Amino acid sequence: MDNREWFKQAKFGMMVHWGLYSILGGEWQGKRIPHIGEWIQQYFRIPRVEYEKLATVFNPIYFNAEEWVKLAQDAGMQYMVVTAKHHEGFAMFHSKVDKYNIVDATPFGRDVIGELAEACAKHGLKFGVYYSQELDWHEPNGGGYSEGKTWCDNTAYWTNNWDYPQENKNFTQCFEDKIKPQVTELLTNYGDLCLIWFDTPFDITPVQSQELYDLVKHYQPNCLVNSRIGNGLGDYQSTGDNDVDYDYEADCEKTEKNNEVLYRTVRTGLLECPATLNDTWGYKSFDTNWKNADEVLALKDKLNAKGINYLLNVGPDALGRIPAPAMEIFREAGRRLK
Ligand code: GLC
Repeated sequence: MDNREWFKQAKFGMMVHWGLYSILGGEWQGKRIPHIGEWIQQYFRIPRVEYEKLATVFNPIYFNAEEWVKLAQDAGMQYMVVTAKHHEGFAMFHSKVDKYNIVDATPFGRDVIGELAEACAKHGLKFGVYYSQELDWHEPNGGGYSEGKTWCDNTAYWTNNWDYPQENKNFTQCFEDKIKPQVTELLTNYGDLCLIWFDTPFDITPVQSQELYDLVKHYQPNCLVNSRIGNGLGDYQSTGDNDVDYDYEADCEKTEKNNEVLYRTVRTGLLECPATLNDTWGYKSFDTNWKNADEVLALKDKLNAKGINYLLNVGPDALGRIPAPAMEIFREAGRRLK
């Protein structure tokens, strides 16, 4: 089936943010991050050499791909999207391009993207990956350094400016040497992907967004690409994070009128809203602000009524466990859906 057709009917998916940040659980040297957990390296300006040490203790012995797949299916979800590499730059798959990956750099030594891809294929759940194609805090030339692009109450750039000074950055080098090769690895080593979920386009040029889009289609013509590839490209529109009141027509009008090339709304009619179950994407031990099953189902109805898929996130902990409350809520939502 054409994935565009499938996507239209899918309605409900599971997003998973999992990486080295999950080990910290939102805390660094006696302080708690008030923002989303996967941004901890940036928020506390953790030096690269210090942050890399997390990999040496990453050993999620309770990770069980089949259990995650089963949970998504119990919840009535039709697909799963997992962070293959977030802004921290660490690959959750076995990359030949960069040793900073879960197989080569951790005692765990297992390719979790591979195991999840396999479990999804076995149980008939569609599988997609999140890949941060621009922000990469591990790379001297990671993107996100455009002037005026700040974050965390205007205290920081999106890029790594604590290890690597803001001047003389060259995203093209990172794009050519890491991003394209790693995206190729994802497209060629893990079977059919239903979609690739790109994020945070700032410095990526129209030519680069196009190149990346073509790369995806070259290897997997049926793999969908979300609009955060940048520059008005993509097969479907991602709404803002947790933007459950998203108004598609208004967004189209606004981005076209203001000629917002980078964030132009993708006019294919396919839509998806990424949303959190608590208030973070990556695991934070102290974020217990869970939506209950009623709230989840109400949000699902609201989004689906507007033709928007609900991509609901969960952040597993350092041992590979999905927090118990999240599991209960997912299962309860699934029971009621049936
Ligand atoms: C944002 C954040 C990121 C998160 C994403 C999910 O763009 O930078 O941490 O992965 O939203 O939609």
